[in-house]
Parts: sequence; C-alpha cells; structure tokens
Amino acid sequence: MTKRPKIVAGNWKMNLLQNEAKLLAQSLNNGVQSIHNDNLIVLVFPGFTLLNTTSQSAIHFQVGAQNFYPEKNGAYTGEVSIEQLQDLNLKYALVGHSERRIIFSESNTLVRSKLLTAIDNDITPILCIGETSDIRDQKQHFQYIASQLKDALNDLNPHQVAKIIIAYEPVWAIGTGITATAQQAEEMHAFIRNWFAENFNIEIANSIPIIYGGSCNDSNALELFSCPNVDGGLIGGASLNVNQFLSIIKTINGLS
Ligand code: PGA
Repeated sequence: MTKRPKIVAGNWKMNLLQNEAKLLAQSLNNGVQSIHNDNLIVLVFPGFTLLNTTSQSAIHFQVGAQNFYPEKNGAYTGEVSIEQLQDLNLKYALVGHSERRIIFSESNTLVRSKLLTAIDNDITPILCIGETSDIRDQKQHFQYIASQLKDALNDLNPHQVAKIIIAYEPVWAIGTGITATAQQAEEMHAFIRNWFAENFNIEIANSIPIIYGGSCNDSNALELFSCPNVDGGLIGGASLNVNQFLSIIKTINGLS
C-alpha cells in the first residue's frame, strides 16, 4: 500500500505585511531545516502581495497560492491566473476554501473549473470541503460532503484525481476555537476515503491525502493527527505564530 505523505499547510489568509511575512518565513525555514523527513510536506499560503517575499525564504518549505482565476489571461480585473502562479514557481493552490465559497459566493461550477485548471497546469490543488453547523445539526453532513465531492470531481479520470489533496474543514470549526473531536474528524475522513474507493478505486482511496482544518493548534494536534485517516492539517490562525506552527509540524513529524 502506498505510504501517504504527511502535510502541514499554513493558510495565512488576509494577514501580515512584508516585514512580518519575511520574519515569519525566515523563522519557519530555520525551524523546519532541522527536520529530515522525506515524507513530510510543509506548505505556506500567503496573500498575493507576500508570495515573493515568502518564497525568498522558503528553502525547507513550499509556498502556494490561496486563490486564482481559471482563465489563461484577459479582462478579469483583480484576478490572478494560473500562469502567473507558475511564473513564481508555485506548485500548490487552495481551491474551494469555505471563505471563498461563502463570502465570495464561489459556486460549485467555479470550484470545479479551478480544480481542473490546476490539475491541467501541474499545480496541486488542495480541495477544501466542509459542512456548516446547520447541516451537521440536521445530520446531513455525510450526504453534504458526498455532494461537494461529486460536484467537484464527477467525471474526472483517476489520473486527474490522483493529483489532488483534500482538506476537510468543517465550517463551524474554522476560526471559532471549536475544533472537531478526533472521533468526528476520523469518521468523516474515513467516509471521504471510502467515497473515493466507491467512486474511483481502492488505490486512489488509499493514496489520496486527506488533511483536517478548523481551529487546529499545538494542544489538539496530537489527538487529531494520530487518527489513521487524518494525513495532516490546514492551519489558519495558529500558522501565524511560528512557535505554534512549528510545534504542530513537529507533532506530525513525530507521528510519521
Ligand atoms: P483556522 O483556519 O485554523 O484559523 O480555524 C483554518 C482554515 O481556514 O484553513
């Protein structure tokens, strides 16, 4: 069976200025350089204006984009193309983060189009999915996650799907300080893995990385990342604090 990589990704969202990003990136790089683990991938997703600054310090971690628009170029004021990300040598991008879906009304169609554009251009997409508290209260969360997966991935071929990372991020856990319990995370990750087995094949199900996001910090990292189907984390708030973020990375490293 393929050994899945462990992934720790920091989503800086709309935070930090040049100097702050530079300091954070340098400290992160120093902290990560002593970790020798080919199976561990450390990623950081800064805002667009910070991509260059962050990339300059990124020797032992990789930098990705929080967003892009799925057209090659043209009259799309305010947008950034995938070619512009490639121009910065970026290899990863977030797709379908709940803040994009909810605040910026990104439709399932747009999410799918971004996903396909990333795959076609050799940018690894981290496809974010997750239910709101209302959906969970109504006990519709498994059904909802299956429908988000179907909307994004229907009719893709196994070769395309093999290039994706999934981030399960329950909306009620993002930035709230309320994290999913290890049991809630594990049962949903196992459900997602099984969805891949049923809709694609067992090899894809076993090899696709599924990371968890939503109020992860250095206190709950061990419990969450010890779950067999949780392959790492997408970390928001705690990734802005280098000590917290390094502590999460070291926790995952100790488990891999
Ligand atoms: P949080 O954000 O860790 O601050 O909850 C996670 C995310 O939105 O990716």
